[in-house]
Amino acid sequence: MKSSQALVLVFLALLFAWAGQVALGFFQVGRLEPILNEETNYPAPPTPSGLAQTGARVFASQGCLECHSLSVRGPSGSADLTRGWGPRRTVPRDYLFREPALIGLSRIGSDLSNVGLRVPESKDLLMHLYNPRQRNPNSTCPPHPWLFDSSLAGPSIENEALSVPTRDWKQLLPSYEAKALVAYLQSLRTDYALPEAPLK
Ligand code: HEC
Repeated sequence: MKSSQALVLVFLALLFAWAGQVALGFFQVGRLEPILNEETNYPAPPTPSGLAQTGARVFASQGCLECHSLSVRGPSGSADLTRGWGPRRTVPRDYLFREPALIGLSRIGSDLSNVGLRVPESKDLLMHLYNPRQRNPNSTCPPHPWLFDSSLAGPSIENEALSVPTRDWKQLLPSYEAKALVAYLQSLRTDYALPEAPLK
């Protein structure tokens, strides 16, 4: 084979790889836009709060994705919907305002796409982060005590202190990271309809 032919082959191989990996993906999902709900005037998917966006970074940095996915599959070929992991499947448009767009593959723990619907209360989520076995005695979700600060309680216990027994007049307060992570978990809910994924 002449070297010019080899060059053309290399060029074609690169072109096909680019077309398959980059161009095709761009044409499929690159120009998705939010849908305006004409009744409420809010966009779907909703824009997460700034605290929730910070929480997405905490979620990424704590390695939650090693065990939890953020993508409900189905209804065909997957049992996710019958497991109660969400009211509908997740579609690419759901990730529009998620930066970074965490998807995840691992299902050692449950899918968390709708954890904001399943566990809506921030005190339950904080307790889960501090000690998952307080909520579920058989939980194998790792505790994250480093997301909490222990401080002297003073004359009164602060409102946001965890209700766990502590010694020496101490109280356990969630750090900024813990609060951001909980705001992120609460923002994870696909209870809005999209044209390609209506709510049943
Ligand atoms: C080593 C694997 C592992 C890691 C890492 C992990 N989890 Fe879990 N998680 C689990 C398992 C298994 C369960 C199911 C048991 C339970 O409900 O407690 C679970 C359950 C949960 C639940 C309850 C879900 C429900 O449907 O009620 C939440 C919330 C949660 N994890 C959040 C997190 C967050 C946030 C992180 C990162 C800070 C994290 N997990 C890291 C394994 C993990």
